Amino acid sequence: MDSSTLNLTAKYDVVVVGGGPVGLATALECAKAKCKVLVLEQSVFYNQSGSSGDLLRMYRTAYTEDFMATLAFQSMSIWDELEKEAGEPLRVMSGLLNFGDPDYGAGGPEGTLMGPVPNLDKYGLKYTKLGRNDIQENFPFQNLPDKWVGLDMSDNGCINVPLLLRTLHRLCREHGVDLFDYATVKRVNGASAQGTAFAFRTDKIALTPGAYVNHILFPSFGFTLDVNIWEMASRVSGYYSIDPSIEFKKMWFHFEGDSTYGGKPVSNLFYGFPAVPWSPPNMCRIAVDTATNVIADPDQRAYPVISPEDLENTRRWIHEHVLGVGPHPVPVFAGTCLQTNVSDNMFVLDFVPERYIRAQGSNADKSIVIFTAGWAMKFVPLLGRVLKDLLVDGQAPNYDISHFDIDRKPDDKPIIRDGPVMKERDMSLNVCAGSSIRRLGH
Ligand code: BEZ
Repeated sequence: MDSSTLNLTAKYDVVVVGGGPVGLATALECAKAKCKVLVLEQSVFYNQSGSSGDLLRMYRTAYTEDFMATLAFQSMSIWDELEKEAGEPLRVMSGLLNFGDPDYGAGGPEGTLMGPVPNLDKYGLKYTKLGRNDIQENFPFQNLPDKWVGLDMSDNGCINVPLLLRTLHRLCREHGVDLFDYATVKRVNGASAQGTAFAFRTDKIALTPGAYVNHILFPSFGFTLDVNIWEMASRVSGYYSIDPSIEFKKMWFHFEGDSTYGGKPVSNLFYGFPAVPWSPPNMCRIAVDTATNVIADPDQRAYPVISPEDLENTRRWIHEHVLGVGPHPVPVFAGTCLQTNVSDNMFVLDFVPERYIRAQGSNADKSIVIFTAGWAMKFVPLLGRVLKDLLVDGQAPNYDISHFDIDRKPDDKPIIRDGPVMKERDMSLNVCAGSSIRRLGH
């Protein structure tokens, strides 16, 4: 819908703020539950500047944490439902190879190497344990240390990100959702998104703005979340040319402890994707899974600067251990995206606490839900369902979301901060003159 056909006085059941995959999946689920829904996206739909940039994301069922494994297992059938409605697959089930040092410890962003085994057993998901020679014989890796082991898991694959986004957008339109881009919500009042330029009345709101979460929370409610936004982190994406005779069949993770490069600590947790039909031919994505630049606000993004140490260390490792990328592997393309974490590296999925809404003179508890993240593509259809359940029923009893509570205190430190985040370069969130919708043209 464009602004000429948008009824700016309409009353909605649900307004979704943020039109990324989770926002669109939430809108779709709410529309299917007979709600009248509006999605407001501050940029264009399916833009490359936030968390959903690039062509591929992992669809993964292999998790070390029990509660994540359970959610991943629950998400399997919801993905199948979405693909059925889409009329085409949105994933390629390539499988996943985790390999590396069996002694790789806990504390990294992807759990431990063999950590998922009890959960795979619990849910009857198939896997094969491999030794170093099995890995080298069956996959394009070489010169691996003798003690390296692997886990080959079939119920995993690659998400076609552009197709997922376009499909969710299309299904939203087919289900009568109003979708408006270039719409920046500056402030939420009570249970309505209101502003100087346009105001929308609504009963419920889903805040799914990814890294921009504090841009809405502080002006609206006077609190912020203590987020660490990983720029390039976990997605220092490099596309490397590959020899077409060498097949990268599966996604993979390489687990090895940190080392130093050029005097700086670097991660050796590398990952890669197979070449897929929707990515450039004869190229595959190989990257390091780490945060080398952590920011408090997306406005601090240093894009397109990529840590030279990470790039060099990745090239070194590829040169030594990956077949088919030539003697001097150089990324043909390297990009970044934003991953939003709170201090326990999880996300927030909860209601805006009643105490902040009451402070606004409203009694509308359970009317505003919030989801932060930017690293949960494999849960997108499930998250849409959970957020819909929270909005429509006030609870989501089928899913254990207790680990994403907004009032939890990892290491005794609350996630909620009453006031703006004061970090090196501050967010300037004190400017809040009510919400407006910028029309920048289409
Ligand atoms: C991805 O889905 O792109 C991804 C997931 C985990 C680590 C790195 C990348």
